Amino acid sequence: MVMEEHEEAPQPYLRGFELNATCFEETRGLSGSTLQQWAETLAPHLQVWGGLVLEVGAGTGRFTRPLTRCGVQLVPLDRSRGMILEGRRRGTSGYVRGDAGRLPFRDGAFSQAMLVHFLHLVPDPLAVVREVRRVTQRGLVAISFEPQGEAPWSRYLELLANDQGRHTPFPGLPERDLASVVPPDEEIELLTVHDHRHADQMLRWMEDHSYSFTWAVPARVHRRLMDQLRAEGFDRQPLPPSKVRFHRWSAQTLMRV
Ligand SMILES: C[S@@+](CC[C@H](N)C(=O)[O-])C[C@H]1O[C@@H](n2cnc3c(N)ncnc32)[C@H](O)[C@@H]1O
Repeated sequence: MVMEEHEEAPQPYLRGFELNATCFEETRGLSGSTLQQWAETLAPHLQVWGGLVLEVGAGTGRFTRPLTRCGVQLVPLDRSRGMILEGRRRGTSGYVRGDAGRLPFRDGAFSQAMLVHFLHLVPDPLAVVREVRRVTQRGLVAISFEPQGEAPWSRYLELLANDQGRHTPFPGLPERDLASVVPPDEEIELLTVHDHRHADQMLRWMEDHSYSFTWAVPARVHRRLMDQLRAEGFDRQPLPPSKVRFHRWSAQTLMRV
């Protein structure tokens, strides 16, 4: 199935994944039992189309492993060598290393593709969607997480975007915004998940640059934003729960992209 592996200099913001792969899972907000509950709720929706699922930007596979335990057949793809090595160490198997913009697969190799926390990172998200359309028979599903309250990472990104005079500091489009560009065929609210991190610990991880979104931020700007977050009391507020939504686009709908 693998045709070739593309070696390219990663964009600067992707270096964060190479450097922080080993702490990626510890610093995320979902506990093992929440991930399992997430997977059990999602699996029946993936089984509607069934077949082989390409997970684009799978990272260390924190979503791949519980879904596999629920019987979903997944092929995790990622571009970062560090994330793949860490994922393998944690028991994620079947990785393909490659670039989402030029998927190393033949046309129609998969039944469907899945995106989670990925599309905001790519400079040309619609090119990725077209690649997904090429390699899938049924179409695309995406899972989005929407915080039910103000979260320190959202506030940080908002302040950073203001600082840069932009709407968002990311080059791409969050999965939930793809739904406003191309209306999906199906949208379901799956569940609400709770964050198990402590706010103060989260802020310390942010200060340490443990999150890729802080990596390319100049030290002086980063310091100022973190001071503002503390001044606004984000180290003392509980982290908000998030609503998880499932979005599905058929191959036919993706023809409009
Ligand atoms: C925020 S992480 C999310 C990982 C996983 N989906 C999760 O939520 O745990 C994004 C992942 O996308 C990968 N990535 C970024 N750009 C990519 C590209 N163009 N092609 C393939 N993977 C890419 C990164 O290496 C990283 O592992």
